[in-house]
Amino acid sequence: MSETQKRILTGDRTTGKLHLGHYVGSLQNRVALQYDYDTFILLADVQALTTHFEHPELIHGSILDVAIDNLSVGLDPERVTVFQQSQIKAIAEMTIFYSMLISVNTLRHNPTIKTEAANYGYSDLSYGFLGYPVSQAADITFCKAELVPVGEDQLPHMEVARKLVRRFNDQYKTSILVEPYAKLSETPRLPGLDGNAKMGKSLGNAIYLSDDADTVAKKVRSAVTDTNRISVKIPGNPDVCMVSKYHKVFNVDEHENICSMCKNAEIGCVACKKLLTEKLNNLMDPFREKRAYYEAHIDEVQDIINTGSRKANEIGNETVGQMREAMSILI
Ligand code: TRP
Repeated sequence: MSETQKRILTGDRTTGKLHLGHYVGSLQNRVALQYDYDTFILLADVQALTTHFEHPELIHGSILDVAIDNLSVGLDPERVTVFQQSQIKAIAEMTIFYSMLISVNTLRHNPTIKTEAANYGYSDLSYGFLGYPVSQAADITFCKAELVPVGEDQLPHMEVARKLVRRFNDQYKTSILVEPYAKLSETPRLPGLDGNAKMGKSLGNAIYLSDDADTVAKKVRSAVTDTNRISVKIPGNPDVCMVSKYHKVFNVDEHENICSMCKNAEIGCVACKKLLTEKLNNLMDPFREKRAYYEAHIDEVQDIINTGSRKANEIGNETVGQMREAMSILI
């Protein structure tokens, strides 16, 4: 890492294993960006509490899972800083400072908070859940990250982070905090093979990065295709077929050709699914190889997280020191 490199920060809640939707939406981007940016990867175990506080063992167990998911797709531990949110004191402290600078009403109107609250069936929101965008602003700004590779659903939170940085700098007449910007993935959100608009662990339609080749084949075999196509001999409609949507993302070169063969009844769903399975497994085989290594060297993974957390703490303490100085609350 050179001093002139811009810093990026992104992360995942540790509420379970990551899947292909995460890969397409963010991980792929992280891997590509790690060569040009000083990359910070956050294991968001505190944010995980906002929805899973009743399941601490799941959160704890997922820390290593999510770290290995990130490493298995090609994030290079020599290059990136992987760290655990709960170990970074600056994040907790900055969250408190920031919480004075935003109104409850602004948080109530955050569209992602509203959607998530509806999905989880929350009617009376906890203070922690309503306020997690404030804590997320601390996640991003403790290390003065400039770019945040995320999916579209995180954009309202980026607004909160930018607003808090501006408010803090204005209020305390300083320029120590850096305004971060989102870097959106170019691939649109990956739907579920079951026809759901989204791939999600709670939806039961996820292909996990840790799935073996046979599991992937099985999941693809059960994918929803054109339900009107009751025989191979009649033409299909790729527009309503989930397998086609996946070919478009994972088999870019052959997608068009496969669609025209489907429309001309020149390829059946079984063969089409086989082609997709092959593509997915070709993509995932190198992930599996790296995963096998890390699973056999768990101590190394724990070391990566500890070293990253130590580094993040040093940086965070420096930022908080500057904030305290600007606020005249020196110790
Ligand atoms: N909210 C993000 C998600 O649900 C996870 C996250 C926590 C995050 N802190 C972050 C993402 C900071 C980017 C930057 O996926």
